[in-house]
Amino acid sequence: MSHELEKRKIPPSGVPYRVEEDSFYDKCFDGHPLPVWFDCDTGVDDAIALLLLRQLPCFRLLGISTVAGNVVLDKTSYNTLCVLELAGSDLPVYRGADRPLIRDQITAPEVHGMNGLGDVILPAPSRQLEKEEAWDAIYQAARACKGGLVLIAVGPLTNLGLALAKYRDLPRLLKRVVIMGGGARGGNTTPAAEFNIFADPEAAEILFSSGVPVTMCGLDMTMKAYLTSEELEELGGLGSPQAKFARDCLQNTLRYSRSLGQPGVALHDPAAVLFAADDSIFESYPAWVRVETRGERSYGKTVTDLFSDKEMPGRSHRVVIDVDRDKFKARLFELMGRYGK
Ligand code: BDR
Ligand code: CA
Repeated sequence: MSHELEKRKIPPSGVPYRVEEDSFYDKCFDGHPLPVWFDCDTGVDDAIALLLLRQLPCFRLLGISTVAGNVVLDKTSYNTLCVLELAGSDLPVYRGADRPLIRDQITAPEVHGMNGLGDVILPAPSRQLEKEEAWDAIYQAARACKGGLVLIAVGPLTNLGLALAKYRDLPRLLKRVVIMGGGARGGNTTPAAEFNIFADPEAAEILFSSGVPVTMCGLDMTMKAYLTSEELEELGGLGSPQAKFARDCLQNTLRYSRSLGQPGVALHDPAAVLFAADDSIFESYPAWVRVETRGERSYGKTVTDLFSDKEMPGRSHRVVIDVDRDKFKARLFELMGRYGK
């Protein structure tokens, strides 16, 4: 990608964003879409990630699975169907795990509202969930792709933990798993642990120790992928029902984030999706990562070896630690600007 092309996508500050016709994603797309599965606990930022996925030509999305996380499974599944309908997508949606493998269930209504969509009510979906269970559907898709499937997981990793436990050949059928979760430095739900990992540490540890290369889009990077209150208004100003929904559903989370002294609302899950689509605006390093499942204060911590003297062997994972926020914002606006065209 040329630097010039990137630069042109960044509006000067204070000037309303104008969506250009010659999209970055169209230009970088080489005509070979990557087969992708998306696992989510929809959730406000999961919802924006779903809207972006619909607009990314570099992905061939095969299916979507839901998991309990931000809210209970019935709500994350319902929300996923509602948001897909808003996006104009009829992708199959598979119901996943309704509770973590071992620990007690946690949810985050203070961040995502009681319904998980910032208490914005979307029209009821016209279709239903598929009959097959998530872990079976993931395995079937992985088999069909013969090692080429990329899985993007932006909720607790319970479905993947179950799939890996049930299907012992799954690791060699997956090309890579890109997660939103964890962090090399620390957590948000506890000082040590990020929400998605803390919600099911044992499942996350199964994934990190499975042999599948995992890319960890954790808090180190996603906290930098934020929009300010003014930028959210700008996003809604794109005018489509999808853009207005994005602005509205994020208001509750924005208030929550501001109450913690943060500059805006972090778009954790959209950042993971944009990383999977093109990593050139992100900074990432190979690393060794395991999840703490026994510590009293460190339960759910993603223990990350980037530079310790210990030099843990087998740095098959990758940790994303930074993003160019202006370029992230430009890409987000570009994709959201495609709605209503
Ligand atoms: C993660 O937890 C959830 O609240 C969000 O949807 C995101 O996946 C951020 O810690
Ligand atoms: Ca999520």
